[in-house]
Amino acid sequence: MVLSNRHYTRYLIAPITLSLMLSACSTASKTSAPDNTAKSDTDDTRIDNTHSEDGIDKIGISMPTQYLERWTRDGNNLKASFEALGYEVDLRYAGNLIDTQIDAIYEMIDDGVDVLVIGAVDGLSLGKVMEKAHEAGIPVVAYDRLICNSEYVSAYVSFDNYQVGRLQGEYIRDALELDKVTGKIYNIEFTAGDSVDNNARFFFNGAMDVLKPYIDKGTLKVPSGQRDFYTVSTSQWSTETANVRFQILIGSYYSGDRKLDAVLCSNDSTSIGVQDAIRDNYNGGNDVVITGQDCDVENLRRLMDGRQSMDVYKNLAYEAGVTVMLVDSLYHGKEMSQSLIDSWNLDYECVYDTQSYDNGKIVVPAFLLEPVEITSDNMVQELVDNYGTYVISEDGSLQVAE
Ligand code: BGC
Repeated sequence: MVLSNRHYTRYLIAPITLSLMLSACSTASKTSAPDNTAKSDTDDTRIDNTHSEDGIDKIGISMPTQYLERWTRDGNNLKASFEALGYEVDLRYAGNLIDTQIDAIYEMIDDGVDVLVIGAVDGLSLGKVMEKAHEAGIPVVAYDRLICNSEYVSAYVSFDNYQVGRLQGEYIRDALELDKVTGKIYNIEFTAGDSVDNNARFFFNGAMDVLKPYIDKGTLKVPSGQRDFYTVSTSQWSTETANVRFQILIGSYYSGDRKLDAVLCSNDSTSIGVQDAIRDNYNGGNDVVITGQDCDVENLRRLMDGRQSMDVYKNLAYEAGVTVMLVDSLYHGKEMSQSLIDSWNLDYECVYDTQSYDNGKIVVPAFLLEPVEITSDNMVQELVDNYGTYVISEDGSLQVAE
């Protein structure tokens, strides 16, 4: 099966609409509006060649790391789903190292993969290797994390990252009852993700858009004053980095009788670091509202025992499923559109978005799935009964279903 140039030409020259959202892909300014230089690319030569002359349809998958639970699941899901459709798969993990990822992608290009699916370690560092993929006629699907500053990203499959942050912000708003007029002032602190991960700013902006009005009103205070994305970001989403930062923060701002009421944590790995710093260093005696994302098994345990207040679930099987269906549809000459999604007859929401993901060079057509709020109250109902992606183990904790 040969990937036809014609098909890719059609979807790559879709009209470009300027993004209305902040583009995290821009390095020029930390808070700048989208780079309006995003261009409509009508150069169809870049998809002239594919590597399918050998007759084998090979997918190169590059995932960022195996250290975090989710990416191992992503790799396994993608591999199994592609293989079920008869594709050959080369799956590599980068150990969170930019150079390892780049080297692996070069190797896969040289090996003649037909399509690349990439979960970027650093969305800003893949420019050169993307050019090489383009020269070799290999389409690239950005998986979960956007690839920035390259016109050669064919499509992006992810969740509605802004909505993930909104769910976290709304949870904090409701848990602290910020809309009730009580005259009470609450203290909050922030922990965001890795600043080189395009998603991290979307999560942060989503949460901030919910919480900022309360900060402006004075209902919420940030005693550390640390509330801009770069200051609160966490390199490599590291548990340890988040933990150390929070130990210092608690020591500096919460050593007296000041109460810490809530911490926005953009994901589960950083949330664990914050929770442990609170356990070891905070003496306020109150429960702190703490968010997360990914529903890692350890975090679900912590939801049950109250150390974490909420989580955001992103069904990774859906994400891999949409990626595989997209690649396979394009192989079969379909165009990217909302009706393509409709033709898959999914029993879950997936939206075709041609506006939100400006990568600094083009607005990348995105296929976005819906994140879901999880608490100790709905975790069994959603994760076990509804999605069936977790099972209840003998000790009552949730484990990932085989
Ligand atoms: C993903 C999150 C994940 C984080 C750290 C983000 O790009 O969307 O699900 O928690 O990376 O791996």
